[in-house]
Amino acid sequence: MLTDPFGRRIDYLRLSVTDRCNLRCVYCLPAQGVAGSASEELLSDKEIVRLVGVAASLGINKLRVTGGEPLARPGIVNLLGAIAATPGLTDISLSTNGVLLSKLAEDLRRAGLTRVNVSLDTLRAERFPAIARRRGLEVVMRGIRAALDAGFSPVKINVVVMNGINSDEIPDFVSLTHRLPVHVRFIELMPIGETGFFNARRWLPLREIQARCGPLEPLSPAEQPLGFGPAVYFKSPAGLGSVGFISALSCNFCGRCNRLRLTAKGRLLPCLASEAGLNLRESLRAGAGDAEIAALLRQVVAMKPERHQMAPEGGGVRESFMCSLGG
Ligand code: 5AD
Ligand code: SF4
Repeated sequence: MLTDPFGRRIDYLRLSVTDRCNLRCVYCLPAQGVAGSASEELLSDKEIVRLVGVAASLGINKLRVTGGEPLARPGIVNLLGAIAATPGLTDISLSTNGVLLSKLAEDLRRAGLTRVNVSLDTLRAERFPAIARRRGLEVVMRGIRAALDAGFSPVKINVVVMNGINSDEIPDFVSLTHRLPVHVRFIELMPIGETGFFNARRWLPLREIQARCGPLEPLSPAEQPLGFGPAVYFKSPAGLGSVGFISALSCNFCGRCNRLRLTAKGRLLPCLASEAGLNLRESLRAGAGDAEIAALLRQVVAMKPERHQMAPEGGGVRESFMCSLGG
């Protein structure tokens, strides 16, 4: 079992499998994109499976595959199948922008994945390219339906709320939970990445987001969608799904942090908002044994800061792109 210096039990790994993406969301990437890493810089499938095995042997039992856009990695279905076969993992999930989901939902389900999160910041076709800098609303909506049809449960929809950009759609997203059995989670914008997008005017505080949702009822623990992150959930009257909130700034959740992050290039990070971390790829390629890899994992757990220093004024901005960190 892994426990950090503040007594937090670390049992969750977020694994980025690519730093490339087929969208260019304004808060995540610059318009021209960033040069994706060469494939030899990325961990291979074999290296990923090996690291996941070592992590699982230390008590990591939950894993989320992220990107960039994870479904854009060649061979992702087979990789997920191999990860799902790792002894000790009890929960495997995927965060995707949904663009490739209608094609892959069935295969992903067969590979052993049981739940997915889809990032979607607007329900208006004409607005989608203004946020993601590519067309795609229809294909993403098809992807969400395909995920529901394939039996994924829960299907969560992550909405990054940007004041004056999509904040007028909060009630529309709540209404979506009346039509589809999805769990919509509103995410407070974070001052992260080199895009220069974040500023205090674009940040809508949690209480404002909640006020615009209309009346919501608390969810009993039995009704909570399965998940291990910082979201807090409510039911909207007549809702098939639920409405949740993830707030890094208004409502610091670091005290309940349970996670490590592995970048696609094999750097293991103790926290989204910290520069600390260790390069595991070098050790893997230098022939490190499992015990040595396990020791590096423990070292990163020991580096976990007590909390992030991000603030609405923009403090704590990390000098890297979200696309390599996986949200
Ligand atoms: N603030 C809030 N959420 C963000 N994400 C990416 N960048 C930011 C940011 N600056 C979200 C994505 C996705 C998840 C992987 O992280 O929208 O839902
Ligand atoms: Fe791609 Fe996700 Fe970044 Fe959007 S937020 S550009 S979908 S990695």
